[in-house]
Amino acid sequence: MSDKKTILVTGGAGFIGSHTCVELLQAGYNVVVVDDLSNSSEKAIERVRAIVADAEAAGKAPAGAASSIAFHQLNILDRDALSAVFDAQPVDAVIHFAGFKAVGESVEKPLEYYHNNLTGTFVLCDVMREHGCKSIVFSSSATVYGEPDSVPLTESAPKKPATNPYGWTKWMIEQILTDLHTADPEWDVVLLRYFNPIGAHESGLIGEDPKGIPNNLVPYVAQVAVGKLEAVGVFGDDYPTPDGTGVRDYIHVVDLARGHVAALDWMTGRTGVEVINLGTGKGSSVLDVIHAFERACGHELPYVIKPRRAGDIAENYADPAKARELLGWQAEYDLDRMCEDSWRWQSGNPNGYAD
Ligand code: WQD
Repeated sequence: MSDKKTILVTGGAGFIGSHTCVELLQAGYNVVVVDDLSNSSEKAIERVRAIVADAEAAGKAPAGAASSIAFHQLNILDRDALSAVFDAQPVDAVIHFAGFKAVGESVEKPLEYYHNNLTGTFVLCDVMREHGCKSIVFSSSATVYGEPDSVPLTESAPKKPATNPYGWTKWMIEQILTDLHTADPEWDVVLLRYFNPIGAHESGLIGEDPKGIPNNLVPYVAQVAVGKLEAVGVFGDDYPTPDGTGVRDYIHVVDLARGHVAALDWMTGRTGVEVINLGTGKGSSVLDVIHAFERACGHELPYVIKPRRAGDIAENYADPAKARELLGWQAEYDLDRMCEDSWRWQSGNPNGYAD
């Protein structure tokens, strides 16, 4: 009887999910991925296996790690299909990434966002409860802080009303999971509030693969760097920041993934609700990112100053002390490394997983 814990990862074929699967496998967990592939590719799972097989061969992962991941294509709204996965093996904890996540799209399609993200979470928690699994790590976001009153942001900063349905789903799911624990103290809930995840695994085999024109800065910059897009649009240079452009706390997706493993390791045997920021504690401007990416790709990147984007805030970055003190985790990689790894992925896979 294996004493390896089994983690079910919803949305595990996605950008953050796939990177987290690599770290879970390398840390000796069994992984079961459920993903409907609506915004991801099964190729990511194949590449996760390849990355971990290389780590195994190099003695950097436990024997058998690469074959300790299973994949089921399903939408968590499909209760019977999800329940069958829990029937197939005991699940010790769930990391919940699955959800629509495009801010602009959520404004155009609120019903689809609330149904997919909220009802999906209701079904997930109900099936978990039915199978006696009450440990969940939720992929939340610094977006719940809205326009901060001050920076750096600690976990005690107040949650603010969201400015779009996507942000509301993060806000509401945090509340739903908190209420679940209040009603049944056996629930073990960790709410990880991500700042701005960017970068890619150093192998260049997995990375961010947005559909259509990227909404987020770094995938857009990467596509300019590889020649798929003309120039970066800088959304405003009149913010009250050092160079006038927006400041964010960019965190390497591998650091973020390792934060999930640290959270799972910490959760053993506890119950409660814990909010934890996952950021570096360092703010970088849009122009900082563009120049770091120029260093990574080795050529200048054209950009034009455009009007501010509706709903954007001037600045946010984390106070990462709680994650360091509670989980023994802190981000290791700097902005240059994030851009180097992002460039390796983008230049090696100009069309993402479609290549
Ligand atoms: C970063 C900075 C823009 C694009 C959002 C969500 C958050 C999370 C991450 C999903 C800002 C500027 C951007 C561009 C630009 N979402 N920018 N030109 O808005 O901080 O966070 O994505 O997981 O929940 O809110 O990220 O990358 O869109 O913007 O100048 O083409 O880059 O104004 O200052 P954001 P972003």
